[in-house]
Amino acid sequence: MSIISKYNRFSYVYDLMEIPIEFLWYRKWRKKMFSGLSGRVLEVGIGTGKNIRYYPKSCEVVGMDISNKMLSYAKKRSRKNKKVSLFQMDAENLGFKDGRFDYVVTTFVLCSIPRPVIALEEMKRVCKPEGIVINLEHMKSEIGIIAFMENLFNPITTALTGVNINRETVENVKKAGLNIIDVKNVALWDVFRMIRSKP
Ligand SMILES: C[S@@+](CC[C@H](N)C(=O)[O-])C[C@H]1O[C@@H](n2cnc3c(N)ncnc32)[C@H](O)[C@@H]1O
Repeated sequence: MSIISKYNRFSYVYDLMEIPIEFLWYRKWRKKMFSGLSGRVLEVGIGTGKNIRYYPKSCEVVGMDISNKMLSYAKKRSRKNKKVSLFQMDAENLGFKDGRFDYVVTTFVLCSIPRPVIALEEMKRVCKPEGIVINLEHMKSEIGIIAFMENLFNPITTALTGVNINRETVENVKKAGLNIIDVKNVALWDVFRMIRSKP
């Protein structure tokens, strides 16, 4: 099944399934990550639009996702915020001109995009030369036992949900030609990390 069909199916229960982790972790991470942003922001894989409420008023937000059903929930969330526009699009082929955005952001997206390096190359292309790409993602740990478990369970998570739990996301950011500013461990040792990079 394609990613688009998987997320179209999940869209009905996505927010419900994420309630525990949203309350435990995600909402505080989202708040922190978005609080300092301003200018034109591209959110890749905006999903049901959970980040929308955390954008400061100074942001003009462009959100995109491959799943029309996920986007329909984001549309509802964006009604109160006139500075959000939404597009159905593939992250591996962004329909924006070069150097358009001050920030390009993802939260929990690079695990499901089929070719993450291509998507990161696209993020680099549409980001202004002085802009910043921020990826808050879970990825393969550098701790042996955790990486072993992630490799072991990855076939199951991809088959069930399309989510890869063993992506080498810091390496992928580098492979895309982005220059790392910093990488911060956020939770579960180094499984959840926030990566900031520049084109
Ligand atoms: C786990 S959800 C995360 C949604 C949202 N970023 C959040 O923090 O709640 C992953 C999202 O990435 C989207 N996605 C996966 N592959 C994509 C692609 N190639 N292009 C655009 N969006 C994609 C899915 O449709 C889904 O909405």
